[in-house]
Amino acid sequence: MRKVLVATEKPFAPVAVNGIKEVVEGAGYELVLLEKYTDKAQLLAAVADVDAVIVRSDIVDTEVLNAAKNLKIVVRAGAGYDNLDLDSATEHGVCAMNTPGQNANAVAELALGYMIFGARNTFNGTSGFELKGKKLGIQGFGNIGRLVARLGVAFGMDIYVHDLYAPDIKEAAQGYTIVDDVRDLYKNCNFISLHIPATPQTKGSIGKELAGSMPKNAVLINTARKEVINEPELLELLAERKDFKYITDIAPVALEEFAKYEGRFFAPPKKMGAQTAEANINAGIAAARQIVDFFENGNERFRLNK
Ligand code: 3PG
Repeated sequence: MRKVLVATEKPFAPVAVNGIKEVVEGAGYELVLLEKYTDKAQLLAAVADVDAVIVRSDIVDTEVLNAAKNLKIVVRAGAGYDNLDLDSATEHGVCAMNTPGQNANAVAELALGYMIFGARNTFNGTSGFELKGKKLGIQGFGNIGRLVARLGVAFGMDIYVHDLYAPDIKEAAQGYTIVDDVRDLYKNCNFISLHIPATPQTKGSIGKELAGSMPKNAVLINTARKEVINEPELLELLAERKDFKYITDIAPVALEEFAKYEGRFFAPPKKMGAQTAEANINAGIAAARQIVDFFENGNERFRLNK
């Protein structure tokens, strides 16, 4: 009997786990759960005899792949897959997939929530400002960026979009202003919402030059990845510009330094963008279905590695 492991340091909602169980057991496979693990050794032990693994932001590197002797497929229940070592997966003959779009709405709603939270001075009771009539710059126009744009319109914001890689940007961004040069996005927009992956090109790319060029009372929202930020430069900016705010869903490495800017900086204890029952159900069940479809029909539609 095939074994499917759900390995989640940050667990899915129980209702999503039930849904995954139904799909996995419905196919005649066995479900194994490793939730809230605190040590990599627990993960290494749990993967030893399984055929498939479902993870969230859990790191699947060579050490994990070496320990997973029977593994054929790993599915990242979510969008960003910088936690999977794709080359190593290929070397180990393991198919790696993600579940694009499945948790996008949860992240998009939170991005708008963070915009309000920033505009209202992290709800500290002092006078803030409104989203209506402001310019919202969306960097990265994938599934999440597109939903953020629609929500921004509902709040009466003017939408500006930058994405050099979205092939359908002209059609998808109709009614919005497409900005080719990312520097113009930052120079013009009161709010910037980041929806770019962490890649060698994007890592450390948001620093003082870009963020510092934003207009007065700028709010930078990061529901993407902490790695895209140049933290020392952003700290300098927060020190120099008392009107600048940075609201991030992912705690920076230099959290203590950032925490000094209370009222202009915020990060939750754990990344919570995709942490809704709906997103957990959508992404978790999609991952389980993709695994069953892979084994039963050889479907590799969402394969990420070669
Ligand atoms: C994603 O890339 O899908 C999001 O960052 C969600 O990550 P999580 O599953 O760790 O919450």
